[in-house]
Amino acid sequence: MAEIEGVGGLHPKINGAFGEAHLLSMHQFSPADIDTFLQEALAAEAVMRTPGVWGRNLLPGAELKAVMRQPSTRTGGSMATAMTKLGGGAQVISGMAASSEGKGETVSDSWVAFATQADIIGCRTAEAGGVEVGAMAIDDAVENGKLWKRVPVINLGDGVNEHPTQTLGDVFTIYKKFGYFADLTIATVGDHERYRSHHSLTIGASILGVKIIAVESSAAPVPEPYVELLGDNLERTRDLDGAIQAADVLCMGRNPDEYSGEDDEEQGRSAQLAVDYQGWIVDRARLQQMKPSGMVLHARPRRNELDPSIDADPRAHDVEQMANMIPARMAAIALLMGVSIKGSRQ
Ligand code: CP
Repeated sequence: MAEIEGVGGLHPKINGAFGEAHLLSMHQFSPADIDTFLQEALAAEAVMRTPGVWGRNLLPGAELKAVMRQPSTRTGGSMATAMTKLGGGAQVISGMAASSEGKGETVSDSWVAFATQADIIGCRTAEAGGVEVGAMAIDDAVENGKLWKRVPVINLGDGVNEHPTQTLGDVFTIYKKFGYFADLTIATVGDHERYRSHHSLTIGASILGVKIIAVESSAAPVPEPYVELLGDNLERTRDLDGAIQAADVLCMGRNPDEYSGEDDEEQGRSAQLAVDYQGWIVDRARLQQMKPSGMVLHARPRRNELDPSIDADPRAHDVEQMANMIPARMAAIALLMGVSIKGSRQ
């Protein structure tokens, strides 16, 4: 497992070999890999919506563990639903308070323990790179002959780093509406330093050639690696209204203030961000300047940056976005486990 070199390191590219991969970062995807994913997700949605079927018995007996070391309403539950609809079983573990880590077990030993019980593991960690560490512990156990099979690992959000399956679902939602990516403009709004969903979406946009308008705060601007990645496809602004007018997709993000520190510098940053978020509230009146064909996304949970007065507007796709996470995660699970939902329908 030497290829994985820590946060921002060189994750092995998938290059079509989903059945040999972990899903740790959007950096692993090529345009062709995203297309493969989209075709699987479309097939998953069709299967899921077939009356009297609701799923496909592609992975009978397979077991998913979704280990959520940070709070979650959507991600862990939708992973479990996705596996169930593929014919497997699932367990969501919410927090580690009841685990044997309380008896002194290391995190790496926990990962290997879960790998003895599961065929695929999704995990969310507070630490950037925390899911990679787990994938490496499992692969080491396989290479040492201690585990009899590979166990793919899916990053369900690792601290302030990435949330790749959120982006896969977002990309699926955008593709279902527009049917293409070229020439689209996505406006991302919020803390660009610490909102992991914006990081993965930015990487996805760079792969797909989509332009990003980042509505950013002086306290949490777009980090330099993402600036370099997007090059001319990135516009940085403080003008939310201008971005709303220009964008095909308005992607709002919550203030991830659970990462705020206590020192004076951090407190100053938090105060500036609190002011900026108050200026970024999108309500029904403000949304009227968006083009009629536009769409609004939010990974949720939301606070007041996306006012409920927009919920009845046809451009608000954030609830559909949540629902799309099920077929998106069905596709991701199936691909990583080496089966094809699309292939099973032909
Ligand atoms: N979008 C998302 O990751 O939601 P949860 O934190 O509720 O899982």
